[in-house]
Formats: sequence, C-alpha cells, structure tokens
Amino acid sequence: MAGNWKMNKNPEETQAFLDGVKGKLPESSKVQTVIAAPAIDLTTLVAGAKGTPLQTAAENCYFEDAGAFTGETSPKALKDMGLDYVVIGHSERRGYFHETDQDINKKAKAILKNGLLPIICCGESLDQREAGQTNDWVASQVEAALAGISAADVKNSVIAYEPIWAIGTGKTASADQAQEVVAHIRSIVAKLYDAETADAVRILYGGSVKPANVKELMAKPDIDGGLVGGASMDPESFVALANYQD
Ligand code: G3H
Repeated sequence: MAGNWKMNKNPEETQAFLDGVKGKLPESSKVQTVIAAPAIDLTTLVAGAKGTPLQTAAENCYFEDAGAFTGETSPKALKDMGLDYVVIGHSERRGYFHETDQDINKKAKAILKNGLLPIICCGESLDQREAGQTNDWVASQVEAALAGISAADVKNSVIAYEPIWAIGTGKTASADQAQEVVAHIRSIVAKLYDAETADAVRILYGGSVKPANVKELMAKPDIDGGLVGGASMDPESFVALANYQD
C-alpha cells in the first residue's frame, strides 16, 4: 500500500504523520507499506521510518547521478539517503512537466542501477477511455518504460495503473474496470518477458482509493496494492488502508 503525498506536507507535518502511524502499520510480510513524499521531507521520512515496517519513496528523480542539472534530484543521492523506491511517470509529471516515455525509461534504468526500485505509473485520459484506446495506450506506456530493462529487475519493480480521470476526482474506476486494465498490463509484461516475470511484478491501482473502497479493489486477482494520493495524507486513513485485510 503506497501513499503519494504529491506537493503536500513540510518536514514538521511529515514527523506528525510518522508519530500518528507509529506502531499501527502491518509487518511487511503481511502488507508492504510505502510513503512517497516531496524531496524536502525525505530526510525526516527516512529517519522516522527506520526500524519500522514503513518503506520510503521519492516522487521523482533525474536520470543522471550528478552534474549541472539545477533543481533536479540524484537517484544516487536518494539511495545514499536510504530511500527504497522512486515514483516515476506520474500523470502529473507527464502532463504538467512534459515528461516523455523516453525520460521515464531513462529514469527507471537510473533508479535500478542505483539499487532503488521504480514505481512506474501509467494510465489513460477520459478521452482515451471513451475512444476505446485504454489498453493500447497503457501497453505503449509500459512497453516504453521497460525497454531494455531485464526480467530480474522487472520482477522487483512496481507498476501503478492510474486512470487520469480517477485521480483526485473522487471518481474511482470500478473494481472490475481496474482489474481489467491491470490484468492487461500483466499480460503485456508476460508478452515482453515471460509468465514468471508477469506474476512477480507488483501492479497497483491508483485513483481515489480510500478506506471505503480499498477492500473491493484489493480483492481483485491482479491488483496487488494501491497508490493512494489524498487518502494517504491523514495517518488514521493510511493506517486503515494499510490494514485493509483486518
Ligand atoms: O499517486 C496517486 C494518485 O494520483 C491518486 O491520487 O488518491 O488523490 O486520487 P488520489
């Protein structure tokens, strides 16, 4: 169960969240939990998560380790800091910051090279869904993001299916709609690699996931977890999401 805070919370608020979830998250053998936070909060997040089941993620990084790239975040530095994951290809980064499939592929490779794991986002717009292009569009995003990445690395990676029309809108894809596309993504991974890799890769659904709908979504056979925006920011809500099996 992964939370994505987007551009919310300062270090003080991050600490308050950590205090709020302390001792209430499941062991990672039951449900793995991750919070992706803004770069300015990562020092606080990593320090607070140490020794707890909570894993940590950055919301973006650059594809070079170091150099004259003002304002960017180094994947190597993230690894050195003790981060576990980096979210890449979120529709907000693709849309507002013009990230291309090629950028996302380079970032995925840089993340893996540095011993971190990518959470690779994909998803269609409402227009694309209504035009019947969802499966082809999502397949092209996944194929481009994974180009040149080994099966061994894909097995450890995470893909997040996030229909753009369901993000922050309160409009969740129905569990059946989410399952259909997530199963399609798994079949694409099987086609690009093999059945074993497709089985191993963790595929999340994101888009207005909340404690009230998480159970139904997680009951679907291909949905391994959630990538949650709004409902991940409140400690009580994140604890409820993480403990959805209870
Ligand atoms: O990365 C998270 C997604 O954009 C979902 O956001 O749960 O606020 O709809 P949301």
